[in-house]
Amino acid sequence: MKVLITRQIPSKGIEELEKAGFDLTVYTDKAQLAQEDLIKLCASHDALFSVGANKLDAYFFEHCKHLKAIALMSVGYDNVDLSAANQYQIPISNTPDVLSKATSDVAFLLMIAASRNAFNMHKKIEKGEWGFFEPTANLGIELYGKTLGVFGLGRIGIELAKKAKAAYGMKIIYHNRSKNKAAEELLDATYVSFEKLLTISDVISVHANLSDETKNIFNAQSFKQMKSTALFINTARGGLHSEVDLINALQDQVIWGAGLDVTNPEPMQKDNPLLNLRNVCVLPHIGSATKETRDQMAVMAAENIIAALYGLRMPQIINEDVYIK
Ligand code: DGY
Repeated sequence: MKVLITRQIPSKGIEELEKAGFDLTVYTDKAQLAQEDLIKLCASHDALFSVGANKLDAYFFEHCKHLKAIALMSVGYDNVDLSAANQYQIPISNTPDVLSKATSDVAFLLMIAASRNAFNMHKKIEKGEWGFFEPTANLGIELYGKTLGVFGLGRIGIELAKKAKAAYGMKIIYHNRSKNKAAEELLDATYVSFEKLLTISDVISVHANLSDETKNIFNAQSFKQMKSTALFINTARGGLHSEVDLINALQDQVIWGAGLDVTNPEPMQKDNPLLNLRNVCVLPHIGSATKETRDQMAVMAAENIIAALYGLRMPQIINEDVYIK
């Protein structure tokens, strides 16, 4: 059996697949594979280990019907057309849980960094603008006792909320499609409407999936409803916020600051105005980028491929419908 891996992955993942006896092709070019090239490569493989935002849409599935499994090395699957995968009975897996702590660390980091203008303070020193001590300059906002509004209280949002409560005694409110009773008990969290989340939160942190329903849900209208002292943090997907509206909201001081680990598009260009705004901190999508987490993600994705190619159910299956006879 042959497995195509679309980028260099941690060796632990490779070892698992080799132990299982598969032939591996690792695409090592440091560039996004064009969809046509991906389709050509897939033609001679039985399974796809997909790393990065490969476009796995209806067109892809139509041309890769023969694939026996696709394992994503990510928790997000907004790049996959699941109904097309179902049509051809191709099981798809992702890598939930193992990256929740690392990704929530980055949300926490961005929340603190944005609250204290940390990235731009660093830039000031580089530019020789430290200057003399002014008691009214360089002021940030404290997080103690403030309200954290989590948009999408799932595994990653829960990890962030735990940290925010422990470190700053933050009150937790959240908005989800359905209530998360277990998280409410764990965090003493309160479910609120989307409008309430916008108006009450001192910090909004986004942890929802990107879908037709959530695309650009944070837009001019939503930013207008937020407190002028609020911080907007997004470590989920850049498509959840309108970048133009966010830039305007920050420039016009409609909201106070933002911390982004995800942008739209990615990579962000170096002349993006967000990089020069005072209270904005941007990172290059490093939520899950720790040695420990990436090792676990690679192994988890490998285990899913192995299960599927041995005729077993993928442990982290996303489209369970393929197993319903
Ligand atoms: C994920 O796992 O979805 C991360 O955002 C990396 O793509």
